[in-house]
Amino acid sequence: MVSKVITIAQQKGGSGKTTIAANLAAVYSLKNNLSTTLLDTDPQGSLGKWFLTRNEKLKNKNMIQFKTASLWGAQYEAKTLKEKSDLVIIDTPPKIDADGRPAIEIADLVIIPISPSQVDFWATESIIELAKREKREILILINRANAKSKLIQEAHKFVNKMNVKKAKTILGNRQIFVSTMGLGLTVVEKQRTGKGCLEMLALAKEIQSFLKF
Ligand SMILES: Nc1ncnc2c1ncn2[C@@H]1O[C@H](COP(=O)(O)OP(=O)(O)O)[C@@H](O)[C@H]1O
Ligand SMILES: [Mg+2]
Repeated sequence: MVSKVITIAQQKGGSGKTTIAANLAAVYSLKNNLSTTLLDTDPQGSLGKWFLTRNEKLKNKNMIQFKTASLWGAQYEAKTLKEKSDLVIIDTPPKIDADGRPAIEIADLVIIPISPSQVDFWATESIIELAKREKREILILINRANAKSKLIQEAHKFVNKMNVKKAKTILGNRQIFVSTMGLGLTVVEKQRTGKGCLEMLALAKEIQSFLKF
């Protein structure tokens, strides 16, 4: 049993936390045959709505497990879940502060998605500080990147300045990420060789070699 916990955190809403959580869970459960549980701590429940849509569509072929917890209760829940799951992926709400500590503390890896935009850079510093204080492994993931935008260079500069690791994989700004979520699906279930699919597979592999599972 792998028993790893990955927390996806970022105080800025709309940075892609929920999308990345769902897509990673799909790669690990469907492609790598790892039992994977998504733990939703966002009271807004977008991940839950995605999961219900998925369940209706796929019935017993869903493969991914789903649980909810308060941010405060996330640590206890994740500890219990990881006894039975290879992977627990925690999706968190925006605006987490000290109340987000349990979900960060339990994580073997904290993934912090950022869009290449100055507003996102500003919003990211405090979550990086929180994860650093808890001495967690951190991976910054540039998401929704437009290949030609100069802001990607700014994002690299920002990450270097914060002195944290960043994923080699960059997720592009792609409609397939939006449309698949609405259907209760993920990119790897809709594409085999499309760019979005290849990016998700590369990201999953990168995380795997980072966490050694
Ligand atoms: N790589 C991407 N390309 C295009 N749209 C994306 C991408 N990642 C996320 N989105 C879209 O951005 C919006 C916010 O994403 P979401 O995952 O809900 O963010 P968060 O959970 O951080 O609030 C959603 O409409 C989602 O479909
Ligand atoms: Mg979300």
